[in-house]
Amino acid sequence: MSKLGEKVSLDWAKIGFKYRNTDFRFRAKWDNGQWDVGRLVEDSFIKLSEGAPALHYAQQCFEGMKAQTAKDGRILLFRPNLNAERMRRTAERLLMPSVPDGLFIEAVEQVVRANHRWVPPFGSGASLYIRPMLIGVGENLGLRPAEEFEFRVFCSPVGPYYSEGGLGSISLAVSQYDRAAPQGTGSYKAGANYAAGLLATKDAIALGADEALYLDSRDRRFIDEAGSANILVLIDGDTLVTPASNAILPSITRRSIMILAETDLNLKVEERAIDLREEFESFVEMAACGTAAVLSPVKRVWFDDEWHDVGRSPETPIMQSLYDKLVGIQSGILCDPGHWVHPIAL
Ligand code: PLP
Ligand code: COI
Repeated sequence: MSKLGEKVSLDWAKIGFKYRNTDFRFRAKWDNGQWDVGRLVEDSFIKLSEGAPALHYAQQCFEGMKAQTAKDGRILLFRPNLNAERMRRTAERLLMPSVPDGLFIEAVEQVVRANHRWVPPFGSGASLYIRPMLIGVGENLGLRPAEEFEFRVFCSPVGPYYSEGGLGSISLAVSQYDRAAPQGTGSYKAGANYAAGLLATKDAIALGADEALYLDSRDRRFIDEAGSANILVLIDGDTLVTPASNAILPSITRRSIMILAETDLNLKVEERAIDLREEFESFVEMAACGTAAVLSPVKRVWFDDEWHDVGRSPETPIMQSLYDKLVGIQSGILCDPGHWVHPIAL
């Protein structure tokens, strides 16, 4: 299924990161202990009972991924199997039925194919953002899991998440709030984590930052992550460090960049606790990374009531090289030894 016609006419460089109502979305229902086969639908509204546990108790989770057009016209997903796996893991944590990997990938492929005219062209700097979501529907009042669920995948063309775009740098402000407790839901992509972070983001923006930066909630010393992205720090010029924490989302972008840093840039890579105040002076470069954020260098961080500049130079050559490698693979320009890109047959 797909709407015939030319590509939609948008000023791709200026579309920003926002919801656009595209032609089709995929919907599957779980009832009586099993998933139906699901299908594409045009209706962007979900009809829900007011008793739905997704509304009261946030029994809901989601994923985020992107499709890009390659130079030869192919449409490429990036490591979609890892999104399927992460949604399975989150579903188990929230007592929701897992979406089988086959159904997950099939749904994503159908949505991209059906919305082909919305996929931004090669070289436009934009991509098709795909949002799979799993929600507890049906009726319920007591605190117990839903008995019916909906798996839905929609998509929207997007530009850069942070206002500057490309490799534009950002600022982060350490939040006074905690994002997640050590044994809480921080490592799961549960919508509830994000609702709790809205105030932290608002406060960060009021300080002139792009995003909140969270420290670990036990000691309030170690870097956890930003509101929508993981953190990478280049220390001593040759070691790329990322926080070890079980309260952060296991970012697919971060895992990929750490591999590229080691294999392509010959950097040492470490996953360990990073003490913000003790180690800040040794930060040479810093970045936020994620599907929406891609790889965004961090130029300054607000903590202890003042701004602190990252590194001694505004240049970020290592983050630039990592960005070029990552985006090169994602858009089919560079070779892909790990078979990370997943072409969608049109
Ligand atoms: N951390 C948070 C809180 C996020 O929302 C995201 C976005 O998905 C990430 C990190 C980055 O994860 P990924 O690279 O898998 O998109
Ligand atoms: C993503 O990067 O895919 C996310 O889910 C982050 C979201 C806040 C846009």
